[in-house]
Amino acid sequence: MTERNEAHDRVLDLIVDRWSPRSFAENAVPQEDLDVIFEAAGWAPSAFNIQPWRFLYAHRGDGNWERFLSLLIDFNQTWAKDAAVLVFVVSDTLQRKGDGTTSPNHSHSFDAGAAWALAALQATAMGYHVHAMTGVKFDEARRELCIPDDYRLEAAFVIGTRAPKEKLPEQLQQREAPSGRKPVSEFAWAGNFA
Ligand SMILES: Cc1cc2nc3c(=O)[nH]c(=O)nc-3n(C[C@H](O)[C@H](O)[C@H](O)COP(=O)(O)O)c2cc1C
Repeated sequence: MTERNEAHDRVLDLIVDRWSPRSFAENAVPQEDLDVIFEAAGWAPSAFNIQPWRFLYAHRGDGNWERFLSLLIDFNQTWAKDAAVLVFVVSDTLQRKGDGTTSPNHSHSFDAGAAWALAALQATAMGYHVHAMTGVKFDEARRELCIPDDYRLEAAFVIGTRAPKEKLPEQLQQREAPSGRKPVSEFAWAGNFA
Protein backbone atom coordinates (compact mmCIF):
# COMPACT_ATOMS: atom_id res chain seq x y z
CA MET A 1 0.00 0.00 0.00
CA THR A 2 2.96 2.31 -0.56
CA GLU A 3 2.75 2.90 -4.31
CA ARG A 4 4.07 6.29 -5.34
CA ASN A 5 4.23 8.26 -8.55
CA GLU A 6 7.43 9.61 -10.01
CA ALA A 7 7.61 13.37 -9.57
CA HIS A 8 10.27 16.03 -9.34
CA ASP A 9 11.88 15.75 -5.93
CA ARG A 10 10.95 19.38 -5.18
CA VAL A 11 7.22 18.69 -5.54
CA LEU A 12 5.91 18.28 -2.00
CA ASP A 13 5.52 14.66 -0.87
CA LEU A 14 2.03 15.50 0.40
CA ILE A 15 0.94 16.47 -3.11
CA VAL A 16 2.36 13.39 -4.80
CA ASP A 17 1.11 11.04 -2.07
CA ARG A 18 -2.52 12.11 -2.48
CA TRP A 19 -4.45 9.78 -4.72
CA SER A 20 -7.99 8.49 -5.01
CA PRO A 21 -8.60 4.90 -3.95
CA ARG A 22 -11.98 3.16 -3.95
CA SER A 23 -11.31 0.54 -1.31
CA PHE A 24 -12.12 1.96 2.10
CA ALA A 25 -11.97 0.38 5.55
CA GLU A 26 -15.13 0.72 7.56
CA ASN A 27 -13.67 2.87 10.29
CA ALA A 28 -14.94 6.34 11.12
CA VAL A 29 -13.40 9.78 10.72
CA PRO A 30 -13.94 11.48 14.10
CA GLN A 31 -15.81 14.77 13.93
CA GLU A 32 -12.73 16.57 15.35
CA ASP A 33 -10.68 15.34 12.38
CA LEU A 34 -13.39 16.31 9.93
CA ASP A 35 -13.57 19.78 11.42
CA VAL A 36 -9.80 20.18 10.91
CA ILE A 37 -10.14 19.06 7.28
CA PHE A 38 -12.91 21.60 6.66
CA GLU A 39 -10.97 24.33 8.43
CA ALA A 40 -8.02 23.64 6.11
CA ALA A 41 -10.41 23.90 3.15
CA GLY A 42 -11.57 27.25 4.47
CA TRP A 43 -8.02 28.60 4.32
CA ALA A 44 -8.19 28.53 0.51
CA PRO A 45 -7.85 31.90 -1.20
CA SER A 46 -10.94 33.26 -2.96
CA ALA A 47 -11.86 36.36 -4.93
CA PHE A 48 -12.62 39.22 -2.53
CA ASN A 49 -12.27 36.59 0.22
CA ILE A 50 -15.91 35.68 -0.45
CA GLN A 51 -15.23 32.04 0.57
CA PRO A 52 -18.06 30.75 -1.64
CA TRP A 53 -17.61 27.07 -0.73
CA ARG A 54 -20.19 25.16 1.31
CA PHE A 55 -19.84 21.54 2.45
CA LEU A 56 -22.82 19.30 3.25
CA TYR A 57 -21.73 16.06 4.86
CA ALA A 58 -22.86 12.79 6.39
CA HIS A 59 -20.94 10.24 8.45
CA ARG A 60 -21.49 6.61 7.50
CA GLY A 61 -24.38 5.27 9.58
CA ASP A 62 -25.80 8.62 10.66
CA GLY A 63 -29.34 9.74 9.90
CA ASN A 64 -28.36 11.32 6.56
CA TRP A 65 -25.96 8.66 5.27
CA GLU A 66 -28.26 6.44 3.18
CA ARG A 67 -30.02 9.48 1.71
CA PHE A 68 -26.71 11.12 0.80
CA LEU A 69 -25.27 7.90 -0.64
CA SER A 70 -28.36 7.42 -2.84
CA LEU A 71 -27.53 10.73 -4.58
CA LEU A 72 -24.39 9.24 -6.17
CA ILE A 73 -24.64 7.33 -9.44
CA ASP A 74 -24.90 3.60 -8.88
CA PHE A 75 -21.27 2.89 -9.77
CA ASN A 76 -19.98 5.32 -7.19
CA GLN A 77 -22.36 3.97 -4.55
CA THR A 78 -20.84 0.50 -4.93
CA TRP A 79 -17.50 1.60 -3.48
CA ALA A 80 -18.28 4.88 -1.68
CA LYS A 81 -20.60 3.02 0.70
CA ASP A 82 -17.61 1.92 2.81
CA ALA A 83 -16.05 5.36 3.20
CA ALA A 84 -16.43 7.20 6.49
CA VAL A 85 -17.73 10.57 5.34
CA LEU A 86 -19.55 11.70 2.20
CA VAL A 87 -19.38 15.39 1.37
CA PHE A 88 -21.22 17.44 -1.25
CA VAL A 89 -19.38 20.56 -2.38
CA VAL A 90 -21.58 23.55 -3.14
CA SER A 91 -20.57 27.06 -4.19
CA ASP A 92 -22.36 30.38 -3.85
CA THR A 93 -22.60 31.82 -7.37
CA LEU A 94 -23.16 35.37 -6.11
CA GLN A 95 -21.22 38.11 -4.44
CA ARG A 96 -23.58 39.34 -1.71
CA LYS A 97 -22.95 42.92 -0.70
CA GLY A 98 -23.65 44.60 2.60
CA ASP A 99 -26.46 46.67 1.11
CA GLY A 100 -28.37 43.55 0.08
CA THR A 101 -27.46 43.74 -3.62
CA THR A 102 -25.76 40.89 -5.46
CA SER A 103 -23.61 40.39 -8.52
CA PRO A 104 -22.33 37.22 -10.21
CA ASN A 105 -19.12 35.83 -8.75
CA HIS A 106 -16.97 34.80 -11.72
CA SER A 107 -14.73 32.51 -9.67
CA HIS A 108 -17.17 30.63 -7.40
CA SER A 109 -16.30 27.24 -8.89
CA PHE A 110 -12.58 28.00 -9.11
CA ASP A 111 -12.53 29.00 -5.45
CA ALA A 112 -14.56 25.97 -4.33
CA GLY A 113 -12.09 23.80 -6.26
CA ALA A 114 -9.21 25.36 -4.35
CA ALA A 115 -11.00 24.61 -1.09
CA TRP A 116 -11.63 20.99 -2.06
CA ALA A 117 -7.95 20.58 -2.97
CA LEU A 118 -6.85 21.89 0.42
CA ALA A 119 -9.31 19.56 2.15
CA ALA A 120 -7.85 16.66 0.17
CA LEU A 121 -4.29 17.58 1.11
CA GLN A 122 -5.13 18.11 4.79
CA ALA A 123 -6.91 14.76 4.93
CA THR A 124 -3.92 13.10 3.26
CA ALA A 125 -1.58 14.65 5.83
CA MET A 126 -3.82 13.19 8.56
CA GLY A 127 -3.52 9.68 7.13
CA TYR A 128 -6.85 9.55 5.30
CA HIS A 129 -7.66 9.15 1.63
CA VAL A 130 -10.15 11.25 -0.27
CA HIS A 131 -11.92 10.54 -3.58
CA ALA A 132 -13.86 13.19 -5.51
CA MET A 133 -16.86 12.42 -7.70
CA THR A 134 -18.98 14.15 -10.28
CA GLY A 135 -20.84 10.90 -10.77
CA VAL A 136 -23.68 12.51 -8.86
CA LYS A 137 -27.42 12.56 -9.60
CA PHE A 138 -27.20 16.34 -9.77
CA ASP A 139 -30.87 17.29 -10.22
CA GLU A 140 -32.07 14.89 -7.55
CA ALA A 141 -29.25 15.92 -5.21
CA ARG A 142 -30.06 19.61 -5.59
CA ARG A 143 -33.66 18.93 -4.59
CA GLU A 144 -32.89 16.46 -1.83
CA LEU A 145 -30.20 18.64 -0.25
CA CYS A 146 -32.38 21.79 -0.51
CA ILE A 147 -29.69 23.67 -2.43
CA PRO A 148 -30.97 27.15 -3.38
CA ASP A 149 -31.06 28.15 -7.06
CA ASP A 150 -28.18 30.63 -6.70
CA TYR A 151 -25.81 27.96 -5.39
CA ARG A 152 -24.08 25.42 -7.63
CA LEU A 153 -23.65 21.79 -6.67
CA GLU A 154 -20.06 21.20 -7.79
CA ALA A 155 -19.13 17.65 -6.85
CA ALA A 156 -19.00 15.16 -4.01
CA PHE A 157 -16.11 13.49 -2.23
CA VAL A 158 -15.58 10.79 0.33
CA ILE A 159 -13.02 10.63 3.10
CA GLY A 160 -11.87 7.44 4.76
CA THR A 161 -9.09 5.05 5.58
CA ARG A 162 -7.77 2.95 2.74
CA ALA A 163 -8.36 -0.81 2.76
CA PRO A 164 -6.62 -3.55 0.73
CA LYS A 165 -7.66 -3.54 -2.92
CA GLU A 166 -8.84 -7.15 -2.59
CA LYS A 167 -11.97 -5.76 -0.97
CA LEU A 168 -13.05 -4.49 -4.40
CA PRO A 169 -14.49 -6.43 -7.37
CA GLU A 170 -11.82 -7.69 -9.78
CA GLN A 171 -12.16 -4.96 -12.41
CA LEU A 172 -11.79 -2.20 -9.82
CA GLN A 173 -8.76 -3.86 -8.23
CA GLN A 174 -6.84 -3.20 -11.44
CA ARG A 175 -7.56 0.54 -11.18
CA GLU A 176 -6.63 0.77 -7.49
CA ALA A 177 -3.30 2.58 -7.88
CA PRO A 178 -1.99 6.12 -8.24
CA SER A 179 -2.32 7.58 -11.75
CA GLY A 180 0.40 9.28 -13.76
CA ARG A 181 0.30 12.83 -15.02
CA LYS A 182 0.92 14.77 -18.24
CA PRO A 183 4.30 16.43 -18.54
CA VAL A 184 4.26 20.15 -17.69
CA SER A 185 5.07 21.00 -21.33
CA GLU A 186 1.58 19.74 -22.32
CA PHE A 187 -0.32 22.19 -20.14
CA ALA A 188 1.88 25.19 -19.31
CA TRP A 189 3.23 27.52 -21.97
CA ALA A 190 5.27 30.71 -21.90
CA GLY A 191 3.06 33.10 -23.84
CA ASN A 192 -0.08 32.41 -25.86
CA PHE A 193 -2.26 29.31 -25.82
CA ALA A 194 -0.31 26.74 -27.79
C1 LIG B 1 -14.10 16.62 -10.05
C2 LIG B 1 -13.78 15.16 -10.04
C3 LIG B 1 -14.74 14.23 -10.36
C4 LIG B 1 -14.47 12.86 -10.29
N1 LIG B 1 -15.51 11.96 -10.48
C5 LIG B 1 -15.28 10.65 -10.21
C6 LIG B 1 -16.37 9.74 -10.20
O1 LIG B 1 -17.55 10.10 -10.38
N2 LIG B 1 -16.09 8.43 -9.93
C7 LIG B 1 -14.82 7.99 -9.69
O2 LIG B 1 -14.66 6.80 -9.45
N3 LIG B 1 -13.77 8.85 -9.68
C8 LIG B 1 -13.97 10.17 -9.92
N4 LIG B 1 -12.92 11.06 -9.86
C9 LIG B 1 -11.56 10.60 -9.55
C10 LIG B 1 -10.62 10.82 -10.73
O3 LIG B 1 -10.84 9.83 -11.68
C11 LIG B 1 -9.17 10.83 -10.21
O4 LIG B 1 -8.98 11.93 -9.36
C12 LIG B 1 -8.19 10.92 -11.39
O5 LIG B 1 -8.21 9.74 -12.14
C13 LIG B 1 -6.77 11.16 -10.91
O6 LIG B 1 -6.39 10.15 -10.03
P1 LIG B 1 -5.86 10.44 -8.57
O7 LIG B 1 -6.88 11.31 -7.86
O8 LIG B 1 -5.75 9.08 -7.92
O9 LIG B 1 -4.54 11.15 -8.66
C14 LIG B 1 -13.17 12.42 -9.93
C15 LIG B 1 -12.19 13.37 -9.62
C16 LIG B 1 -12.48 14.72 -9.65
C17 LIG B 1 -11.42 15.73 -9.25
